[in-house]
Amino acid sequence: MEELKRKAACEAVKEIKDGMIVGLGTGSTAKYAILKLGEMVKEGLDIIGIATSLESERIAKQVGINVADINEYDSIDITIDGADQVDDNLNLIKGGGGALLREKIIASCSKREIIVVDESKIVSGFSFPLPVEVVKFGWKRTAEKLAKLNFKPRIRHGFVTDNGNYILDCEYDKLENVEEMEAEINNLPGVVENGLFIGLASEVIIGKKEGTEIMRKIK
Ligand code: 5RP
Repeated sequence: MEELKRKAACEAVKEIKDGMIVGLGTGSTAKYAILKLGEMVKEGLDIIGIATSLESERIAKQVGINVADINEYDSIDITIDGADQVDDNLNLIKGGGGALLREKIIASCSKREIIVVDESKIVSGFSFPLPVEVVKFGWKRTAEKLAKLNFKPRIRHGFVTDNGNYILDCEYDKLENVEEMEAEINNLPGVVENGLFIGLASEVIIGKKEGTEIMRKIK
């Protein structure tokens, strides 16, 4: 599985050119992209990285990538990030690593959002528990509201996000009408953001045993 993740990440970094502002994703697959970019920087590639988490920022700095604050740039040329699941329409569930809020802000400011996954993440219907970032204050009451939307929320024990919030991992029987559901969840008081990424991925690079495959958004 690690080899498939690495293949997808190494394919994605081929799109990165001198002078680009590059969003650096979070998770074990995105990490391969950061490590490869670090090697390319050592060979002379000139980029600025915008990290989606403190952990990615730490890794990027360690491998010699210049990391800047997102407030310093109007837009990001390309972001390379992972996902927990990808459906046929290139919608995603993200947040398994708890970085969904910064990841979604950065995805929404990116001209291209390249998602890198191994083939096990491609699904026809979502099943991965949906991560929802909620403020600490009244989190049990927020969880009750999510339960009324037919989710079974579980607090992610011992975990606090980079933004000082909690994550509720929400199981469900079936996740349909994802666009409406994304908005409905975010409309609940106490919810900061949820892990449904609708229409944000421009392409998905899938690491497979026999090579890589690209799924592209139909314009
Ligand atoms: C972090 C994420 C990750 O991209 C997602 O969890 C996939 O991680 P991995 O590549 O380790 O499977 O959304 O918030």
